[in-house]
Amino acid sequence: MDVVETTRELQARADADRARGRRIALVPTMGALHAGHLALVDEARRRADVVVVSIFVNPAQFDARADLAAYPRTLDADLAACRGRGVERVFLPDERELYPEGYQTWIEVAELAKPLCGASRPGHFRGVATVVAKLLVAAKPHVAVFGQKDFQQLALVRRLVRDLGLDVEIVGLATVRESDGLALSSRNVHLAGEARRQALCLARALDAATSAVAAGERRRDAVLAAVREAIAKAPLARLDYAELRDPETLAPAPALLTAPTLLALAACLPRRDGQGEVRLIDNRVLLAQHVREGRS
Ligand code: PAJ
Repeated sequence: MDVVETTRELQARADADRARGRRIALVPTMGALHAGHLALVDEARRRADVVVVSIFVNPAQFDARADLAAYPRTLDADLAACRGRGVERVFLPDERELYPEGYQTWIEVAELAKPLCGASRPGHFRGVATVVAKLLVAAKPHVAVFGQKDFQQLALVRRLVRDLGLDVEIVGLATVRESDGLALSSRNVHLAGEARRQALCLARALDAATSAVAAGERRRDAVLAAVREAIAKAPLARLDYAELRDPETLAPAPALLTAPTLLALAACLPRRDGQGEVRLIDNRVLLAQHVREGRS
């Protein structure tokens, strides 16, 4: 497995692969790899001959310095995990490599970046869009794989690729969960004891909404009430948002749900070390089979 530290070098490797007719897949990450990341790597493997994993904790997407400093870093274990998964190439740039002195070029996906996590984390998606574009330019992949856990990020990346006419296929993969339902996240290491148990309220809230819809509930506010009730059963959890939106445009859902609808949640729980909070997100598309049923 090669570890490449510069954009130029990564581009040269991509050119050589492409000249030999080899398909390249990119899996962008910020490291602290877990089974969710590795599911993306496995999907990349199925779709390409060469798998490139990028590991870069992108300062531009952190609105709070403390959050950036607290982000878990486990490079040796990450490299071992990549090796174990048969990854051909790891891209490991430093901050100076991606944001050289005088850097001033930013990508804004105007509307998709506004709601949900964009509202709670100003500037976050500008940082994400910019770094993803830079990683695509560097790795020159045929396909790039992202998790649906970060649903808004995936929607924004798809838009970015369409808007800029980038020649890459974007694949979204289902969220990988712990056996009790908690979505895997690099931030979960900051949870322990009661806070870890109560973190399940996000998955329970998704289930509550799914059950309500399965029982025939279509009123947006009633579905949201079921979600809030599930979160309220976890007193340590502070709900940041619970919203129903169009899965593609992220426009607010109508008062009566008639089409597939994104339920997106963000909640904060106390950190195990008592130093502030851990912010967790989760989501599900409700009425997902609705369209398929309607079409068949
Ligand atoms: P990071 O949080 O490291 O996530 C990297 C990729 O793993 C993302 O596509 C994310 O959606 C996916 N992922 C995270 N948890 C997952 C889970 N439980 N199941 C499936 N996939 C999961 O997302 C980022 O990094 C950054 O914003 C990045 C795109 C790398 C840009 O800096």
